[in-house]
Order: sequence, then C-alpha cells, then structure tokens
Amino acid sequence: MTVLRQEVKRLLVRVFALRWSKDDCSILDPQRFRMRSVRKTVLLAILVSVVLVLALLHSWPTRTYTTVDVWQRPVPLLDRRLEERLSDVDRQLGNIPFHVRDNVAILLAQNGCVCEGERGGVNLPFAQLLFPRVSAQPLHTAFEASELEEIKRRRAKEYDSFQKRSQTPADVLMVAEANNPLQYPTQGVEVRPLKTIIIPGLALHDLHRDHHSINITTTLGTLNVAAEVDGVKVKGDGEMHMSVSSSLLPNLNRQLQFVTYTNTLFHPSTADTVQIETEGHQAAFTIKIHHGVTPKLYNTGSKGDYNISALVTIATKTFLRYDKLQDLIDSIRKYYPTVTIIIADDSENPQTISGSHIEHYIMPFGKGWFAGRNLAISQVTTKYVLWVDDDFIFSANTKLEKLVDVLERTTLDLVGGAVREATGYTSTYRQTISIEPGEEDGDCLHMRRGFHHIIQGFPNCVVTDGVINFFLARTDKVQQVGFDPRLARVAHMEFFIDGLGSLHVGSCDDVIINHATKIKLPWVGQSNSDKTYAKFRYPLASSDATQTKNGLLFFKNRFQCLTHN
Ligand SMILES: *[C@@H]1O[C@H](CO)[C@@H](O)[C@H](O)[C@H]1NC(C)=O
Ligand SMILES: *[C@@H]1O[C@H](CO)[C@@H](O)[C@H](O)[C@H]1NC(C)=O
Repeated sequence: MTVLRQEVKRLLVRVFALRWSKDDCSILDPQRFRMRSVRKTVLLAILVSVVLVLALLHSWPTRTYTTVDVWQRPVPLLDRRLEERLSDVDRQLGNIPFHVRDNVAILLAQNGCVCEGERGGVNLPFAQLLFPRVSAQPLHTAFEASELEEIKRRRAKEYDSFQKRSQTPADVLMVAEANNPLQYPTQGVEVRPLKTIIIPGLALHDLHRDHHSINITTTLGTLNVAAEVDGVKVKGDGEMHMSVSSSLLPNLNRQLQFVTYTNTLFHPSTADTVQIETEGHQAAFTIKIHHGVTPKLYNTGSKGDYNISALVTIATKTFLRYDKLQDLIDSIRKYYPTVTIIIADDSENPQTISGSHIEHYIMPFGKGWFAGRNLAISQVTTKYVLWVDDDFIFSANTKLEKLVDVLERTTLDLVGGAVREATGYTSTYRQTISIEPGEEDGDCLHMRRGFHHIIQGFPNCVVTDGVINFFLARTDKVQQVGFDPRLARVAHMEFFIDGLGSLHVGSCDDVIINHATKIKLPWVGQSNSDKTYAKFRYPLASSDATQTKNGLLFFKNRFQCLTHN
C-alpha cells in the first residue's frame, strides 16, 4: 500500500505541476480570462486526479509476483549419474594392484578428527614456556551432561541450515568425462541476478552421424537464442529445457554460439547447474549468479608519506583503569598528535576523558571486553584501525607507518606487532589455527604457536592466523568479522577463529609497543581500581567465563575439542 500511496502522490504532484505551468503561460493574458482559466485548471486537475486514483485502485496490483522456493538443492539427476559412473570405473580398475605410500597417505584427511595432547615431558617450572607441549581439551564439558543431547540436536539443526545458506551448486563436485564430444565452459561463466548472457564455448564435435542434436537444461533460469541459423531446429526457447538439432554440424555449432541464459530466480549469490547432453554423452557446468561486490574505498588524502592521522584510528577499550588510559593517550600524543582515539568504556562511574581527537563512548556497566571492542571498531571511519589495550604505552619503536606500509603493499588484512613487557621480554603471540573436519560430534580445532611463511620484502614479518592484542587492520574486514559481544571477560583468539577463512593475517616483530607492568610486586600496594579490575578480568579457570567460551566454541563454531600448546 505504501507503493500505491507514493504513486498517487507522484501523480498529484504532476497534475499540480501542470496547473502551475499553465498559470505561468497565462500571465500575459487579461485578468478575467486568467481567473477563469485558473478555476478551470483547478477543476480539471481535481477531475483528472480523481479519475487517475480510481483507475489506479482498479488496476492495482498491476504487477504480479511469483512465489519461489529459494532453498538451493543439488541437482539430483547430476548426483546420481556421477556416482553411478564413478563406481562403474571403480569396478573395472578394482583388480589392478597398488602399493600405498605411507608418508603421503597419512596426509590425507580421514573422516572423524581427534584431539590428542602430548604426554610425558619434563616437569620443571617454566617448562611450558621453554618446551611447549600440546594439550587437548574437550568442549562439550561446557554443558551439563543432562542437556548435552538436546544441545547437540539443536546445533545439528543450526549447522544444517548454515550449510544450506553458505553453499551453492558451484561447490558440488563435477567430473568432465573422458572422450566427450561436448564442448562447454568449465568455469568463469557469470551472470548478474535476473540478467542475460551468451553462454560462451558451447559446441559439438563430429560423431559421424546424420543428425545432430543437443539438449540444454537449467534450473534457475531460461535458455534462448540471440539469433537464428538456417537449417537448425530450436525447441523450447524461453524455457528451462532447450533442444537444438540439425543435420548440418557447422550450422548447429554456429547456432550454439548464440545460446543465451537468463537468470529468472533472484538470488544475490548462487549458481545454476547447466546440464548438456547429446546422444550417449552428458556434461554439466555451473553459471555463477551474483551481484558484483560493492567496493568500500577510503579516500586516503594526498600522496607522499603515509599520513597516519588520515589513515589510522586508534581504538581501545577501558574498564576502570583511567590512570593507565591517560598514560596511553599521553604516549600516543607524543608521536601522533592528531590521530583519532576511540575509547569504549564500561566502567561503573565513568570519568571524563578530555582532549582533542578523542571519542569516548560510555557503555552500560560491565558490558564486557568484546562488546567494547565491537563498539569501538564500529565508529571508525578511517581505512585502518589500530587495536591497543588500555595499558599499552607508545614508544619510539611504535612506528605505525611500518604497519601501514605492510597493509598497503600486500594483500594482508591485519598485521600484528610486538608487545614488550616491563621485564624486557617481547612477544608477538603468533598462532596458527587449523580445523580438521569431524563427523556429527563436530570439528577439531588446533591452535599452535608459530606462523606459515616469511613475507617477501618484509623480513621481519610473517603470515600467520592469529596475533597479539596490538594490531593494525583494514577497518571493513574487522567490522565484517566482528567481536562477539557474548565474550565478556577473557577472550582474544576467538576473534581470529571467527575470522579464519576471511582474514589474511600477518605479524611483524619490529613494531613494538610497551606493556605497563602487569605482574605487581608484592610490596607495591594495588590501587582499588586495580583490585576491582582483577576481579573481573582474571576469573578462576573453572568459572563461568571459561564455560561461556567453551560453550561458544562448541555450539557457535561447532567444534568438539581444542588442542593448543
Ligand atoms: C532431448 O530432450 C527431449 C525431450 O525434451 C528428448 O526426447 C530427447 O531424447 C533428448 N535428446 C537427447 C540427445 O538427450
Ligand atoms: C593528515 O591528515 C589530517 C586529517 O585528515 C589532516 O588534517 C592533515 O592536514 C594531514 N596532513 C598532511 C601533512 O597532509
């Protein structure tokens, strides 16, 4: 009905516009004539608009909408045929002997993953620091034994629907069979939703027959021909099943060059499986249906050296520690006087933080760690965001230009730096993450210290999967992954686990930020805010925070267990 209302409004506006333009024309006319003409015009306008409204109401709705099933399912025909064929081949080859190569065979993933920790090892203080051992942790313990079955059932249901949403027919295995006379595109055919393209590369090779024919079948769109070729019969044009036949092979092939595909079922990102067949031979290929990716570009200002104020926003989350936060701000200002600092704050009695280029966002008390990170990054308007903890201190080694340079000159989305403790110990906390597929119990999550490669041109930088709490990232990518606000207290790697597969992560150890002392010496009294802070931030291992974390890994990310060192 709002559409109708808008339409009526538009028409009325047009009618009145007509009246006004008539008035304008009549300015030169005698007064009396003008008055009469105005009255006549008004009457006419009212009459016309009433008629138009009635006509509109009568003919509404003019456009009929079809109801469609938007769930994608694999093409059943294709599935069955492929399995039949492949097992045919298997039977013929089954008798040929072979020798397994253990070192390669072991690399192939097996169904059902396991999480196993390492046993034994030295039992010394700092042993874990010096000789890190792998420990394994089941995640289902986050739930009571009585509710576990129900939780598993619900997780399976959500996972099923996630798979339906995230997979397209372009993910289905397809095999091009040997000695097939059909020529067709194997990949790279794309169409925008509800638009039309020519299908490139279709042809039939000579089978020494008198009559040649080819059938094309689609599931999400219709077929047609953009031109007709003499001596070729086209049946089913404008439909989902089209036959093209001719006794002249060159003519048939010429005709195939004009076959078009029109997507008719709207979906912003999916694929249509097109099947083609001629006597005795079948093939299939996919046409990707999707909108182009809308770029999000940032105007980074004039050329020359990197202007950090124009490129980077520093984001942090604070809770009670105003003295530490002020030290951080002062240290930033020493090196970057005009860079914007965004602070998310969920303290109970928030204090005022003054200064230019500072945005201070007050949140409900105790909203939590990731909620604060999420709020802070949501307000960033520069191309990059630098994440720092509120107890970090900038130094002459905190060269943001270096991190910007890495992101500007590589395809990385996020690059971490190093944090130097008061003791002088510097860490980059590089972690690799891998996921082994499991069955109904869920997948196995493995985290290990380390990295994958050194980055060419940046000898101090490596590619990895997770880094420390001090990193520079593309704003739009971090916003896409987001920080799960359910993780209120201790959390960090969860962000990188959520981002696995979409974040390209690096780490450089030559950009260093200092960490204000964490380990309090016993003879130095803790301030009240430090005590309250410690209560929230470092809960006991068995407490609710760990349970929440494990529960999310188990349900949200569908893991059964976790190993790490
Ligand atoms: C093409 O499809 C028609 C039905 O539309 C069928 O009769 C014919 O046998 C098919 N031809 C081939 C070569 O599969
Ligand atoms: C750097 O960017 C800031 C913020 O956009 C701007 O005010 C400043 O003039 C720029 N500095 C230079 C040297 O371009």
